[in-house]
Amino acid sequence: MGMLEGKRLLITGVLTPASLAYHVASTAQAEGAEVVLSSFGRMRSLTERTANRLEKNVEVVELDVNDEDNLAALADAVKNSLGGLDGALHAIAFAPEDALGGKFLSAPRESAELAFRTSAYSYKAMATALLPLLERDRSAGPGDGESPPPPESAIVGLDFDATVAWPIYDWMGVSKAALESVNRYLARDLGPYGIRSNLVSAGPLRTMAAKGIPGFKELAAMWPAQAPLGWSIEDPRPVANTVCFLLSDLARGISGEIIHVDGGFHAIGAPAAVQVEPES
Ligand SMILES: NC(=O)c1ccc[n+]([C@@H]2O[C@H](COP(=O)([O-])OP(=O)(O)OC[C@H]3O[C@@H](n4cnc5c(N)ncnc54)[C@H](O)[C@@H]3O)[C@@H](O)[C@H]2O)c1
Repeated sequence: MGMLEGKRLLITGVLTPASLAYHVASTAQAEGAEVVLSSFGRMRSLTERTANRLEKNVEVVELDVNDEDNLAALADAVKNSLGGLDGALHAIAFAPEDALGGKFLSAPRESAELAFRTSAYSYKAMATALLPLLERDRSAGPGDGESPPPPESAIVGLDFDATVAWPIYDWMGVSKAALESVNRYLARDLGPYGIRSNLVSAGPLRTMAAKGIPGFKELAAMWPAQAPLGWSIEDPRPVANTVCFLLSDLARGISGEIIHVDGGFHAIGAPAAVQVEPES
């Protein structure tokens, strides 16, 4: 039995077959989940074309995460498609061109605000829009280790380590720092409804969003040298697997967490200078 058997999931952010969300949707289906995707406006036909590559048919619901009408209609649209909801992936980020690529000091406030709204505030917006479907009855209490555990549902977002400043990432980096904080506040406020909130902090991977960041290649080039496990910008599977784990019952009890799936890069201060041989 797959780890997501019987789970109904909303996966946002599928655009191309390179999208991290596409790999999550594909892995989730393989693990037994029923999936609905979201897209919006002119992106929709691209999402639908990508969706056709999935093993099982999926519907695509409308969600521009900055559009109040879309947010208000989201829970009903998902319910019509899946009959209910057990988890959702937020794989949404955007920063205008003048807020990225070394333009930190000159970026206009509107561009910084749009990056924040689309990439960080939107995680809260998605969560509250889905709350009627995700909330679970906790009246039976925490359980005693023998009776079935109290029900939980889950939301997951995608992060890029925001504890430090990076070259070129600029207001997207500030938005990811906000996302990390939003994740903690959502864990606080959604826990009583039985909803976990966690982030996966991914190493660089080649996607449309990544292409839109001038200098991404230089940033990505640092990874293989510093990540103790090594890192391939072509392999999104470790990230997809971890997202699916966090959406599954195996992650019961985990909330407000950020799991780094980056080959270990975040734990290391500088690239390895010498190869260390174990003592014999
Ligand atoms: N690719 C990487 O190196 C990397 C690393 C760490 C984290 N991430 C994060 O992963 C997530 C997914 O990005 P990706 O790399 O798969 O790229 P992607 O371009 O495939 O996905 C980005 C998605 O955001 C959606 N989006 C943008 N504005 C939106 C809006 N207003 N409403 C709804 N959706 C909107 C796009 O339609 C697209 O589907 C992002 O949060 C990104 O920051 C990516």
